[in-house]
This record gives sequence, structure tokens and C-alpha cells, in this order.
Amino acid sequence: MKTTAAILWEVNAPWSVEEIELDAPKAGEVLVKIAASGMCHSDEHLTTGDLPFALPIIGGHEGAGVVEAVGEGVSWLEVGDHVVFGFIPSCGRCPSCSTGHQNLCDLGALMGLGMQVTDGTSRHHVGDKDLTLMCMLGTFAKHTVVNEASCIKIEKDVPLEKACLLGCGVVTGWGSAVYAADVAPGDTVVVVGVGGIGANAIQGARLAGAKRIVAIDPVEFKREKAMEFGATHTASSMAEALPLLQDLTWGTMANKVIMTMGVGNGQMIGEAMALAAKRGRVVVTNIHPALEMGGANMSLLDLTLMEKQLVGSLFGSGNPRADIPKLLGLYREGQLDLDGLVTKTYKLEDINEGYQDMRDGKNIRGVLIY
Ligand SMILES: NC(=O)c1ccc[n+]([C@@H]2O[C@H](COP(=O)([O-])OP(=O)(O)OC[C@H]3O[C@@H](n4cnc5c(N)ncnc54)[C@H](O)[C@@H]3O)[C@@H](O)[C@H]2O)c1
Ligand SMILES: [Zn+2]
Ligand SMILES: [Zn+2]
Repeated sequence: MKTTAAILWEVNAPWSVEEIELDAPKAGEVLVKIAASGMCHSDEHLTTGDLPFALPIIGGHEGAGVVEAVGEGVSWLEVGDHVVFGFIPSCGRCPSCSTGHQNLCDLGALMGLGMQVTDGTSRHHVGDKDLTLMCMLGTFAKHTVVNEASCIKIEKDVPLEKACLLGCGVVTGWGSAVYAADVAPGDTVVVVGVGGIGANAIQGARLAGAKRIVAIDPVEFKREKAMEFGATHTASSMAEALPLLQDLTWGTMANKVIMTMGVGNGQMIGEAMALAAKRGRVVVTNIHPALEMGGANMSLLDLTLMEKQLVGSLFGSGNPRADIPKLLGLYREGQLDLDGLVTKTYKLEDINEGYQDMRDGKNIRGVLIY
């Protein structure tokens, strides 16, 4: 069949919205009519080359839609089911999946190739050229074919243009606070960078009982939004937050620091560690450029003497099959704000405008609606 997709043909080029040829799903695969896709910063890393995935690629990994066809052997999904995609597939059988770490499923190792999990080939083509898929999903398209391991079935009454945010930003941000940082009641928490990920780290920290949440962002609009999501204080930089935290905590500093900037910078890790308390934990959720050369700049003496921790977190260190339905339940009960995350919606054809707005700091999340 024919559909429309936003393709990145080379780094430092705009997204090109084109008609593509989409094959029928093979065994273990599902054809989905996508309703909406969030515009996460991780797709921007494709265009800058910070994430060096195989090109040409259909971008997008934060999507939700309706099942239109299932391949042989897919027994638990049927036509008409609503699904959110997990940006890492979860097979349910590998050591990570079977020990409660679906975010680290072994199938994730295939991500850089961007081909189908089943046989390493492509279902998406332009002429005789095969296209790869961001996170093996390619949600910047009106239809896609993905592996069943990437699909999480959701209830049909949740609006898909909000549910799509659960495919990456919400679970990643919320889990960075609740699981990776392990925020406890009474903690002082710092969130560095208030985009789609940081806004949800703030919401996670609030729900986990943080006493104070200091949100850091150079953009004034982001700091205002941070207060709506539950921040108690804001600062425009980590340098500005340092004396604020010293004052607020009587010098004991933050129990948890969550890094959710647009592009990670190893030279700033020392500053983040300096915001952390004795036994404090710094969580690195933001993506650093694959070829970042400078490494991390921090005091390892401070690490030892203050027993600080520095940990990474992928997909909020969560279990998408359990956490996506759980967080949709919190949305339903009015405890998790999804509506306020969507600053502006765009047509697929306007995707480059959407990413320019992200670069300009205008959006918490821009969402493509098909
Ligand atoms: N680990 C994971 O599983 C995972 C998943 C999704 C996204 N990410 C990464 O998380 C990061 C954030 O993604 P997003 O979609 O929220 O991005 P975004 O562009 O929407 O938001 C980033 C925010 O960081 C702010 N910022 C930039 N420099 C800053 C600085 N020096 N100090 C404080 N704030 C600063 C920007 O103003 C912006 O508001 C990206 O690197 C993305 O690739 C990681
Ligand atoms: Zn993402
Ligand atoms: Zn697995």
C-alpha cells in the first residue's frame, strides 16, 4: 500500500515528507494506522548525527494508533485494537524482560539498524530504496509495520493524540524520577531541562512525594510551565541553582538530580554532581552525542568522599507493558497531566516547523496529528 512518511536522507538535512510504499505485515508483525506522534528530541539527534543510525530513516518513536492488519501468529492483537508503541520492543523472554527490565530488552540491540526484528529486512520503501525506522517504529508516518513486541494494547477511550506521549516522553521522564532516581517522600529533587522528558520527571517527583523540586531551564516559558507541573522553585542554570539549593537545604543540597537537557554535555556533569547531597544520586537521562570526545568532567574525590552516585536511565528504567497502562490510569484519575504537555499540534507536512519550534524552546511537546 502507499502511505506518507517523513524521511531523513542525510544528516543536517530537513525531514522530507514523501509518499512511500509499505509492504503487508509478515509473521509476528502488525500494520498500524498511526493517529499521532510526539516530536521527541531524540529524533533531532538523528538529524545532527549525534545518534548515528542507518539512513535513510523514517523518524519518530512516540506514536499511537489503530491496528489495521496482523501478520501470521499474532494472537493477542486484532484489527481495531488501539496501541501505543514502546520505543524499545519487549520480547518478554530475554533475561532483561523476564527480570522486570523490559526497557533493556535484548531486541533493543537491533535499534541502530532500524530493520524488522523478524528477519532484518525492510517493509518501507521509496522506489527500490529500503528505509530504516527510528526505534524500529517510524512514527513520523501515517501507517507503519512494526513487530508485535513494540505494541502495547490500551483502552479505546483514551485519546490517541495524548496516549502517544506514553511511548517515550512520559514513561522516560516519570520513570527517571520514580525508578532511576528512586525519589522518596521528603526528597529535594533537581530537574535539569524542561522539555517533554523533564516535565514528566517533575510530575514523577511530585507523585513520589518530593518536598522541593527545583527545575532548571534557560527558557523563561519552560520555567513557568515547570511550576504548573509541580516544581516548587526554578533557576535558569545550574550555576544559579547552586546558591539557591545551598540556601533552601541549609547546605545539604539535592537528594536527586535528573539530567533531561536537549543535548547532554560531559563538561557539565561536575556541575550536576555539585548539586547533589551526600549519598545523592545524579541520573543521566538526556542523550550525549555518540562521538562526544571530552568525556565527563567531575571530581571523583567528591564521588568517593560524599558517596555520590551517577547512573544512566533508558526509557525511565521502567517496564513499558506495565507502566504505560499504569500511567494512563493516573491520567484518567487526574493525577498525571498529559493535556498540558502538548503545547502545539502540527500536520505531518509541517514537521520541520515543529522541530524549529522545539529548537526555539517554544514547546514542552509538539505533536503531529495525522
Ligand atoms: N534515556 C532515554 O530513554 C531518553 C528517552 C527520550 C529522550 N531522551 C533524551 O532526553 C533529552 C531531552 O529530551 P526532550 O524531548 O525533553 O528535549 P527538549 O528539547 O524538548 O527539552 C530539552 C530542554 O532542555 C533545556 N536545556 C538546554 N540546555 C540546557 C542547560 N544547559 N541547562 C538546563 N536546561 C537546558 C532546553 O531549553 C529544553 O527546554 C534529549 O537528549 C533526548 O534525546 C532520552
Ligand atoms: Zn523519545
Ligand atoms: Zn526482551
